[in-house]
Amino acid sequence: MKEIYADNNATTKVDEAVFEEMRPYFCELYGNPSSMHFFGGQVQKKVDEARMRTAELLGALPEEIVFTSCGTEGDNAAIRSALETSPERRHIITTRVEHPAVLTLCRNLSKKGYRITELSVDGEGRLDLEELKRAVDEDTAVVSIMYANNETGVVFPIEEIGAIVKDKGAVFHTDAVQAVGKIPLDMASSTIDMLALSGHKLHAPKGIGALYVRKGTPFRPFLVGGHQERSRRAGTENTAGIIALGKACQLAACHLDEENTRVKGMRDRLEGEILRQIPKVRVNGGAARRLPNTSSVAFEFVEGEAILLLLSEKGICASSGSACTSGSLEPSHVLRAMGVPFTCAHGSIRFSLSRFTTDADLDTIIRELPPIIQRLRDMSPFGR
Ligand SMILES: Cc1ncc(COP(=O)(O)O)c(C=O)c1O
Repeated sequence: MKEIYADNNATTKVDEAVFEEMRPYFCELYGNPSSMHFFGGQVQKKVDEARMRTAELLGALPEEIVFTSCGTEGDNAAIRSALETSPERRHIITTRVEHPAVLTLCRNLSKKGYRITELSVDGEGRLDLEELKRAVDEDTAVVSIMYANNETGVVFPIEEIGAIVKDKGAVFHTDAVQAVGKIPLDMASSTIDMLALSGHKLHAPKGIGALYVRKGTPFRPFLVGGHQERSRRAGTENTAGIIALGKACQLAACHLDEENTRVKGMRDRLEGEILRQIPKVRVNGGAARRLPNTSSVAFEFVEGEAILLLLSEKGICASSGSACTSGSLEPSHVLRAMGVPFTCAHGSIRFSLSRFTTDADLDTIIRELPPIIQRLRDMSPFGR
């Protein structure tokens, strides 16, 4: 069965051109970029090119890019660095809807004596900047707020947030794992100090990411050892991954317009048809500014897992807003923070598209989904 892949916020297909770019760096050009000989030197040149390509997508300088293993590492490195470089400051601000890469770290840090503020969101997943203004003070070491939410696609007003944070002298980090490659970013004109991205969300392989660190921002490495990455991230470089990420960033820059026209058009068509054909449906975060590829739809009175299983039988891959925690099906922390009613949060499905999604894929989803919801509602005592 050919898959219809609508789970691109979980991970993406490696672009064939990205794969071709990285392929020689396994069995042929396997030198260590730190080596003095020509064989390592030619790999170093490609790593430099990848750094330039990654920087270009962000509107950053090449020396502001530190390659990491994933988005989680970037988030951890940024927050820990900010705490180590301002040891007198003991307060961290984040939001209730962050990815666990940030939220779990902050909650662990609270057990070590740091004061944590988790900002709330409204019913559409939007932040209240007045709450941020009240929270940030001279004790705040770092504010870590995601650029765009992985579940709903809601985009936060990052530059307005940055202006508030900078006013109090705190470091501003953003988890931009879902934003990079989907919306234009420009670090040159930004208030962001650090930004984490992840290769596997933008058609590079898993196991490679990058952390942008603004020139002049004090930095302490998370991994210590050798002098790789200008002593900002020790460990022999994942050269093939870095080269792949560079190529993926170059391609993402070329496809940015398409994300915001063709991909967004498909997303809007999907939502429009769902709302037209299926009763008792709402789009989570639908009134907020959102990523062009993401749609989180709540189907009242049905179980998200049941929808996913029946979609999967038809070859359709999506994801639910629920996480199976300790045997009980808890609705996602994001939808709970938004105050989405229990009956909707449980039946929430995320469709996330990419430039590889086709109109034919959408036709199939739009054809298969309504009878699945109807079937499940017919079985549910509440749905009838
Ligand atoms: C918003 C966000 N942050 C961080 C991560 C973690 O990225 P990685 O899987 O590269 O560690 C993800 C992955 O789903 C994400 O969506």
